[in-house]
Amino acid sequence: MKKFAKITLDRDFQISRIDPRIYGSFIEHLGRAVYGGIYQPDHPSADEEGFRQDVLELVKEIGVPIVRYPGGNFVSNFYWEDSVGPRENRPRRLELAWRSTEPNLVGVNEFASWSKKAGADVMMAVNLGTRGIDAACNLLEYCNHLSGTKYSDLRIAHGVKDPHNIKTWCLGNEMDGPWQTGHKTALEYGRLADETAKAMKQIDPSLELVVCGSSNTGMSTYPQWEATVLEETYDDVDFISLHTYYGNRFHNTENFLAQSDDMDHFIRTVISTCDFVKAKKRAKKDMMLSFDEWNVWFHADEQDSDTMKNRPWSVAPHLLEDRYDFEDALLVGLMLITLLKHSDRVRMACLAQLVNVIAPIMTEENGPAWRQTSFYPYLHASRFGRGVALNTALRASRHDTMDYTDVTDVDCAAVWNEEEEEITVFAVNRDLHDSITLESDLRSFPGYELLEHISLEHSDLFAVNSAESQPVKPQKVQGRDELSEGLLQSVLSPASWNVIRLKKR
Ligand code: AHR
Repeated sequence: MKKFAKITLDRDFQISRIDPRIYGSFIEHLGRAVYGGIYQPDHPSADEEGFRQDVLELVKEIGVPIVRYPGGNFVSNFYWEDSVGPRENRPRRLELAWRSTEPNLVGVNEFASWSKKAGADVMMAVNLGTRGIDAACNLLEYCNHLSGTKYSDLRIAHGVKDPHNIKTWCLGNEMDGPWQTGHKTALEYGRLADETAKAMKQIDPSLELVVCGSSNTGMSTYPQWEATVLEETYDDVDFISLHTYYGNRFHNTENFLAQSDDMDHFIRTVISTCDFVKAKKRAKKDMMLSFDEWNVWFHADEQDSDTMKNRPWSVAPHLLEDRYDFEDALLVGLMLITLLKHSDRVRMACLAQLVNVIAPIMTEENGPAWRQTSFYPYLHASRFGRGVALNTALRASRHDTMDYTDVTDVDCAAVWNEEEEEITVFAVNRDLHDSITLESDLRSFPGYELLEHISLEHSDLFAVNSAESQPVKPQKVQGRDELSEGLLQSVLSPASWNVIRLKKR
């Protein structure tokens, strides 16, 4: 059968206005994300606070709107008080999640300052592993209260007059995982999360709180975990988290690229679970989803599990430094498309992570910061994916893979930026051998013309970038698009990420 893909874009067929926070990311005190990543005072590009400006420039190029911090697994043994005040008084601590030594040279105030420089909001996580309501409320008071109380005055004494006004808070991290310090059952966690949420909202009712969902769909407690936790917390929280990482462990690219369908299924299941609890509680509000850890992650797996147990305790060891190849960038693009298709319920998401640790941005200790292959789809989605997500009504030829059936050969999402009068279609051709023509019916958008067609493609699926060379980078392609009487025909190369941009004349 001839391979095909057709979409119809209509200004009345809208999924939702996209919350820019779906282009969020994540910085954990893990490996070289903080030390040697965002912070390296002896680097030639470091500013007066020790932040690498070459990294900041790349973060700003993407336009990351929000960054989750400080973990991740790290947060479950985080003593925030150790991370503030004069640096010379801050203790070094054993960091249990990643068997590292935490020097506490960067803490809550430094990260807030870095985020400001990056133009991003902070999504702060509290420790519900080894700690609880008390520490969470004290941290909130320290960060957000104006003055005149123990912790707000402590912040001021630490030289930070203005509150950080952090609005988004995660109630712990992956509390369903046996690897988590202070791992809990769903009921234990749900009760603690709810009491913490209530206390935090007494301090500031305008906070948006994220309760932990499952660490991944392979957990034996999934999705009962979500149901139990939401039964305990529904009225007091605003988001439930989802986490997922995919890999190409079987060296089967077709199957690897079909995994965004699994992500789609995961999102649908969590939405159903939220709506079940909503119905049961006769609640009015919809629970929103925070996909606050997602990425490709597997290249560095073996290295890390082998060395993890016996590594000597050290500051900022090289951990999870996945080198992403071209096919990884395609899956990152497909995952972004999946998030956009669910932008009515997925209101926040974080590419995990941002710098050096399973990250689109890497740094050389004595050299530059550079862009991994996965940098580019993330950059394009964040830059051009602002506005309203349109329902594309995709019809496409399909194939089966080892684990998935009925996988569309092309997957895509479309965003209408009404203010700029621009439409962007993000499309991945998952077929590894054939070009496929994507036909877009644009008759609802008279006067729109092609602005550019950007494509990320490479003859070698396993090509990688490095500090020295960038073989995988996007190009503007010519002669692949034809627009006539509101019908746009765009040729998508085999195995390619495409950004097709139109603007009203
Ligand atoms: O992002 C790396 C780790 O993956 C995070 O610390 C944890 O939450 C997840 O398991």
